[in-house]
Amino acid sequence: MDLRTIEWKNNGIKIIDQTKLPGELKYMYIRDLKSLWRAIKELKVRGAPALGAAAAWGIYLGIKNSRAGNFGEFSRELHKAARYIASSRPTARNLFWGIERMCCVALRNKYKPISAIKRLLFKEAQKLIEEDRLACRRIGHYGAKLIKDKDTILTICNAGILATIDYGTALGVIYKAKQGGKRLKVYACETRPLLQGARLTTWELKKKGIDVTLICDNMAATLMQQGKINKVIAGADRIAADGDAANKIGTYNLAVLCHYHNIPFYIAAPHSTFDLTIKTGRDIPIEERKAQEVTELFFKRPITAKGIKVFNPAFDVTPHNLITAIITDKGVIRPPYRRNIAKILNG
Ligand code: MRU
Repeated sequence: MDLRTIEWKNNGIKIIDQTKLPGELKYMYIRDLKSLWRAIKELKVRGAPALGAAAAWGIYLGIKNSRAGNFGEFSRELHKAARYIASSRPTARNLFWGIERMCCVALRNKYKPISAIKRLLFKEAQKLIEEDRLACRRIGHYGAKLIKDKDTILTICNAGILATIDYGTALGVIYKAKQGGKRLKVYACETRPLLQGARLTTWELKKKGIDVTLICDNMAATLMQQGKINKVIAGADRIAADGDAANKIGTYNLAVLCHYHNIPFYIAAPHSTFDLTIKTGRDIPIEERKAQEVTELFFKRPITAKGIKVFNPAFDVTPHNLITAIITDKGVIRPPYRRNIAKILNG
């Protein structure tokens, strides 16, 4: 199965509309910034690395028809697009990383003609995406070494093909281990409220021929108590300089459970997910989403009485002391994190 979550095609951003899965594998084209913003907000395109790619193409989309006569004017248009894309979702570092890379290229080439800068921006988006594809494969390579034959792995949300360009971070580790001949079982948490685990991860793993079993989020402790889980691997949206990692809400629960049951808990993420300007997880901005995601079944059928108060954070932060190791494209990072993150990422 060759799937590509996001690419530039026919003069627009081509994405899989993930809100239609698993019922329908539907592609859509995005040709203006407003549609991109909505696609990100509504999780048609989602997952930290895929958001980085969406942001980079978004910047290109924002300036490709620019008629600016000088760099000052062009730069204003570019930064307007950047601010708009940045306002879509706050947590995934990759989204901002994508924007910043594009803005830097424009600035570095400010003395060139606008048409040349546009071409360079197109190239940069392509380059960023190719780098991300490679980064996921490297994560797979390093992570697969941690997996034993016959391991049973628990994961949450979707950190696979659908969250990246075409491979995955946490699921990339699983794909690579399977490719190396290891026999694996995976349990996928359904991941309330938007069910990325139930809708996306089980769909993707089944298509890749991985033995996957779906559980409700509140069943993880029981599985661990019964000795059914050898490892937990999750993705990340932003990792602070001390190794605290933000990921889909419920990830912290799993890390606490792993600690109690003495099960290794791994985070898998590319270098573009690290934010070394943020000292600890306390400073990671956490997105809060609409109440209806919790009170209604996919905005279609109410499951609570009207007017019930809701708290709906989309992410939580797992403190670094609960993380056994962080699997990155530059190698596996182990504690002490502050020192080793700086050493491995900058090395
Ligand atoms: O709200 P989402 O679906 O964008 O959340 C995605 C996650 O939490 C993923 O685990 C994370 O982005 C890592 S993706 C490789």
